[in-house]
Amino acid sequence: MKAQEIYSLEFNPEKYTTETFTFEDKTYTVRAFEHIIYVANPIDTTYQQMNIYIPEDYFKGEQIRGFTRETAPIFFPNGVGGYMPSAPMSLNNQGRRNIFGQPRNGAQMPQPPQQPPGANMKQGSAIHYALAKGYIVASAGARGRSLQNSEGLYTGKAPAGIVDLKAAVCYLRYNADRIPGDKDKIISNGTSAGGAMSTLLGATGNDPDYKPYLQEIGAADMPDDIYAVSAYCPITNLNHADCAYEWQFNGIDTYQSRMFDMIEGIQSSGPTTRELTPLQIKTSNQLKALFPAYLNSLELKDDQGSLLTVNESGEGNFKEFVIGYVLSAAQKALNNGSDLTNIPWLTVENKKAVKLDFEPYVRQMQRMKTPPAFDAFDMDAPENHLFGTATLPAQHFTAYSYDHSPDKSTLAKTEIINMMNPMYYIGKKSSKTSRFWHIRYGTIDNNTSLAIEVILATWLKNKGFEVDFELAWDRPHMGDYDLDELFEWMDKAVKR
Ligand code: DHB
Repeated sequence: MKAQEIYSLEFNPEKYTTETFTFEDKTYTVRAFEHIIYVANPIDTTYQQMNIYIPEDYFKGEQIRGFTRETAPIFFPNGVGGYMPSAPMSLNNQGRRNIFGQPRNGAQMPQPPQQPPGANMKQGSAIHYALAKGYIVASAGARGRSLQNSEGLYTGKAPAGIVDLKAAVCYLRYNADRIPGDKDKIISNGTSAGGAMSTLLGATGNDPDYKPYLQEIGAADMPDDIYAVSAYCPITNLNHADCAYEWQFNGIDTYQSRMFDMIEGIQSSGPTTRELTPLQIKTSNQLKALFPAYLNSLELKDDQGSLLTVNESGEGNFKEFVIGYVLSAAQKALNNGSDLTNIPWLTVENKKAVKLDFEPYVRQMQRMKTPPAFDAFDMDAPENHLFGTATLPAQHFTAYSYDHSPDKSTLAKTEIINMMNPMYYIGKKSSKTSRFWHIRYGTIDNNTSLAIEVILATWLKNKGFEVDFELAWDRPHMGDYDLDELFEWMDKAVKR
């Protein structure tokens, strides 16, 4: 929707409805402030809007678990998926979108091969969970890669999505006295592309690079840094994700075609296996060869201060370090009573997960994407479309794919590519990076490389941030599956 009028940035405390919901057999009453346009000059009023939910108890002067109207932290989940436009999440629709813009876990999504017991029990109920725990909830919509205005110009290409979420944070701060809650305790939450957005919010706080974009949409002139980050399977560090993917999947020469069938509109009842072409195999080899230089350039260190590296073949203590996280995930599953004795690539001795063979583990997980996984030669991956411009639907964003592209395509501007990469901003002088991070990635998620997640978490730790990072045993590409743990972590973080 196109908007021309100038919107007030002043929050109206009188404009709400009273809503109730039931969570774990208890009924809760909240004030719902919905469809708030959070910038003065919106480009798209369908997406640049926010929903805010506040427990009614706070308006009666009551406390919830020690939180008051003033001190309650603000849970800030986004519904971004596939870098598509996303509406704000609400009490009744907490479903996030997947890479195809469909509701996540909808009937059409490829279903994971095996679901851990209770996998979906609390899926999507993070908002109810937060409100029941006395958190205030604010969920902002954001523009995304497919959005066009009435003139056919693209209005949601990078960095629009992250700019919008920042603008919503600015709105909360601008209205600090009118909206209950502690604006210095904002905790973002997202899954996949939304997880990436969550990491960007945490990494890039107040960085001047985003200022002109915020000004353009009339965002409140306020700080946009946030307190803590929750990110599930963030699809991030996009400009290094191709070589990391081949570091992990090189040698797996088949892939599950479901995703490509869906993109091409082919109806199929389930995943079908296809072979990589000789060009794709060559590409995989070349991309894999680019990973060691990238990884080694980061000079990552483990908790003991040892340098993490790989040699030209991709072998080395960094690989062992990644395997260590998978083993920890297996150990947690064992401790919780799972039987992992029949997994051929995992050695369990005396209820301890002691050894994992990486190649058969990855082979069982299967390859989802063809090389290059993110910056596709034909520019038809979601990420190519993310890096389009007002007039170009898609662009390249890595030198490798640009150089190897068969046609004369264009490369996105470095500044824009960086603005979508938290790695570039974490600990940078001009950014106020969040102190607390909670990152999860499933051990059977093949949407990006495990290396991308381990690199992000280790980079953060090495720069002095407090990171709770785990791989989640047997989890596919999904989020919010461990809300008890997440909120326990959040409760501790907000008291620091
Ligand atoms: C998402 C998944 C992907 O595999 C990807 O490349 C980008 C986004 C998602 O689920 O949001």
